[in-house]
Amino acid sequence: MIAIGCDHAGVEMKKAVIAALTEKGFQLRDMGTDGEPCDYPNMAESVCGLVASGECEKGILICGTGIGMSIAANKIKGIRAALCSDSFSTKFTRLHNDANVMCMGARTIGCGLACELAEIFLTTGFEGGRHQRRVDLITALENK
Ligand code: RB5
Repeated sequence: MIAIGCDHAGVEMKKAVIAALTEKGFQLRDMGTDGEPCDYPNMAESVCGLVASGECEKGILICGTGIGMSIAANKIKGIRAALCSDSFSTKFTRLHNDANVMCMGARTIGCGLACELAEIFLTTGFEGGRHQRRVDLITALENK
């Protein structure tokens, strides 16, 4: 199960991403917003809560730039959120950072690219090995 949410700036992109991922067989839990104005830190908290608790495997967050969502998401324990706007970074944040939340900007990239990046994010595995140690060091920062 994949958690997804957006603020008012990301509604159309979220709809496009849900449609594309559903067609590929992914199951999504849509946390809103469906159009009413919403503060992105609250949406980041809702979606990341599901990921941090293990109820959802990964999360997708969309706001105007993706930046506010990523700043907020990375405040939540257990969350490694990546702002994704190109395929290389999207692939490598899974391979090397084991990112569990992706953030995208509805005012910075198009819906077609967002759908493609979401699929890359959800289908690329973590490489582990030396990268596990680095991810563990990130986790250790949460407890300092
Ligand atoms: C909302 O206008 C906008 O600030 C928000 O979507 C996002 O871009 C914040 O980072």
